[in-house]
Amino acid sequence: MLPSKFLSWLIGVSMILLILSSLSLHQFSNNYDNSSIARSVFNFILVNSSSIHLKQNGRGDQLKSPPIPSEMPKKEDTDIHEAGFQVSGHTMNMDERGQHRGSVCDQSRALLRVYMYDLPSEFHFGLLGWKGCANQTWPSVSIPNRFPPYPGGLNLQHSTEYWLTLDLLASNTANVDRPCGAIRVQNSSEADVIFVPFFSSLSYNRHSKVQGHEKVSVDRMLQDKLVQFLKGRVEWKRLGGRDHLIVAHHPNSMLFARNKLGWAMFVLSDFGRYSRKLANLEKDVIAPYKHMVRSIPIANSPSFNERSILMYFRGAIYRKDGGAIRQVLYYLLKDEKDIYFAFGSVQANGIKQAGKGMASSKFCLNIAGDTPSSNRLFDAIASHCVPVIISDEIELPFEDVLDYSEFCVFVRASDAVKKGYLLNLLRGIKQENWTKMWERLKNISRHFEYQYPSQPGDAVDMIWQTVSRKKLATQLSVHRKNRYSRSQSS
Ligand SMILES: *[C@@H]1O[C@H](CO)[C@@H](O)[C@H](O)[C@H]1NC(C)=O
Ligand SMILES: *[C@@H]1O[C@H](CO)[C@@H](O)[C@H](O)[C@H]1NC(C)=O
Ligand SMILES: *[C@@H]1O[C@H](CO)[C@@H](O)[C@H](O)[C@H]1NC(C)=O
Ligand SMILES: *[C@@H]1O[C@H](CO)[C@@H](O)[C@H](O)[C@H]1NC(C)=O
Ligand SMILES: *[C@@H]1O[C@H](CO)[C@@H](O)[C@H](O)[C@H]1NC(C)=O
Ligand SMILES: *[C@@H]1O[C@H](CO)[C@@H](O)[C@H](O)[C@H]1NC(C)=O
Repeated sequence: MLPSKFLSWLIGVSMILLILSSLSLHQFSNNYDNSSIARSVFNFILVNSSSIHLKQNGRGDQLKSPPIPSEMPKKEDTDIHEAGFQVSGHTMNMDERGQHRGSVCDQSRALLRVYMYDLPSEFHFGLLGWKGCANQTWPSVSIPNRFPPYPGGLNLQHSTEYWLTLDLLASNTANVDRPCGAIRVQNSSEADVIFVPFFSSLSYNRHSKVQGHEKVSVDRMLQDKLVQFLKGRVEWKRLGGRDHLIVAHHPNSMLFARNKLGWAMFVLSDFGRYSRKLANLEKDVIAPYKHMVRSIPIANSPSFNERSILMYFRGAIYRKDGGAIRQVLYYLLKDEKDIYFAFGSVQANGIKQAGKGMASSKFCLNIAGDTPSSNRLFDAIASHCVPVIISDEIELPFEDVLDYSEFCVFVRASDAVKKGYLLNLLRGIKQENWTKMWERLKNISRHFEYQYPSQPGDAVDMIWQTVSRKKLATQLSVHRKNRYSRSQSS
C-alpha cells in the first residue's frame, strides 16, 4: 500500500501536469481553433462557470447590433496644438488648412495627395453587399447614410479601412464639410501616396473560412488577386510599393499577402503578429480601434467623486501570449470592494453595461490579451476613464504627437503582479492628479473618433497627418535606394 501522503502528492503533480499540458495545447494551437480538450480541462480547473466564459472572441463578430454610421456629437472647437505637424521644415496647423465648406478641397492646400486604385467592388463596398451600376466602382457619398453601412458589432472596431476610403471619396464630392487633409487625385504621378482600397479586416472577419466547394477562402482569393494586381502596376514597380498605403487593422487580416507586400506602409492596430522587418514604426501607422461604447459628452463627464469604482476591467479570462497576467491580477484584486473585475466576453447588451461601468470608474485596466492592443483602451478613452496600461509591447496611435503619460498610467507587467503594487499606485493618485489626467482625456478623446464626414483632429484626420509625417521616412528610403541608380549594374 502507498502512504496516503505520497498518493496526494502524486495527484497534485498529475493535476499540475494536466494544467500545463492544457495550457501548452492552447498556446500552440492555431489562434481560433477551438481546442476543446484544453478548454474543458481549463473549465474544470478554474471554474466558476457563471462568471467565466471561455468564449473565443478574437473573431467575435457575432454581435448583431444594428449597423452604426457615425453619430458622434460635434465636439467643442478644437485645440490644435498636438495636431500641428511638420512637413519639410515648416509647421502648419489645421487652421491654415482650414475646413472648407461647400466646395471640394483645393489640391494645393491639401496635406496629402492620394491616388486610390479603382479596384473592383468585390474588394471594398461589394463586401458590404453593395452593387453599383454596370460601370460604377464607388457609391456616391454626397448624402450621409445613403451609402452602405459597415456591419455593426465587433466588426466595427476594425473599420478604419471604411472611414479612410469614405473620406477619400468625400474629398472629390461637393457639399461635404471635412478637413482638407487628404485629397484624392486622378493622376498617380501627382500623388504623395497610393491608397489600396481593400477592406481586409472585413474580408477576414466575414470570409476567411472555406465555404462549400471553394478550394480557398474568399479572403485568401482576394489577397492573391490583390498581390497579382499590385505587382503588375507601374505605380507599384516605381518604388517597390514604398508609397502604397494598405489598411490591415485586424491582426489577422492580409495574412497571406503581407509578406509579399512588405515594403508598403501598413495601417495596423499593433505589430504583435508582424516581424520587425515587415512592420515597424519607421514606415507604418498605428490606428485606433473604433470604440464600442458610446462616448460621453464632455460637458456631462462624471468627475472624480462621481465615479465610485476605483478600477474597472472586463474581458476574457484566458488569453494566449502575455494574457496569463489576467489571472494573476484577478486573484490579487477580486476581493477589493471598489474594484470591478469580471470575466466574460462583451455581449450585445454588455457593451452598454461596459460603457456604464467605465463611466463610473476612475481607472480602466488594459491588460495584454491575444495581441498587445485591444479596443478596451479606446472604450476607456471614450468614457474618460483613465487607462491603466499593462502591456509592455503595446504601440499607441499618434504617439509622436500625443504624450500618453499625461492621461494614462503605465505599469510594467513585472510590477503589476507584485502583491499590493497596483492598488497602492492607484490609491496614491489623488483627486487633483487624477483630475488633470481626466481633463486631458476630455481634450484628446476626439482624436479617436471615426465618423463621416471626418472632422478636424478626428481619427481619420489624425491618420492622414501621420501618413504625411511618414512621407519623409519613405523619401529617405527611396533616396537611399537611388544612390547608385546612375551606375550601370553589371
Ligand atoms: C468553434 O466552436 C464554435 C461553437 O463553439 C463553432 O461554431 C465553430 O465552428 C468552431 N470553430 C472551429 C474552427 O472548429
Ligand atoms: C461565481 O460567480 C458568481 C457570480 O459572479 C458569484 O455569485 C459566486 O459566488 C461565484 N462562485 C464562486 C465559487 O466563486
Ligand atoms: C456608364 O455607362 C453609361 C452607359 O452605359 C454611360 O452613359 C456613362 O457615361 C458611363 N459612366 C462612366 C463614369 O463611365
Ligand atoms: C499625370 O501627371 C504627369 C506629371 O504631372 C503628366 O506628365 C501626365 O501627362 C499626367 N497624366 C495624365 C493622364 O494626365
Ligand atoms: C500630483 O500633483 C502635484 C501637483 O499638481 C505634484 O506635485 C505631485 O507630484 C503629483 N503626484 C503624483 C503622484 O503624480
Ligand atoms: C483642454 O482644452 C481647453 C480648450 O480647448 C483648454 O482650455 C484646456 O487648457 C485644455 N486642458 C488640458 C488639460 O489640456
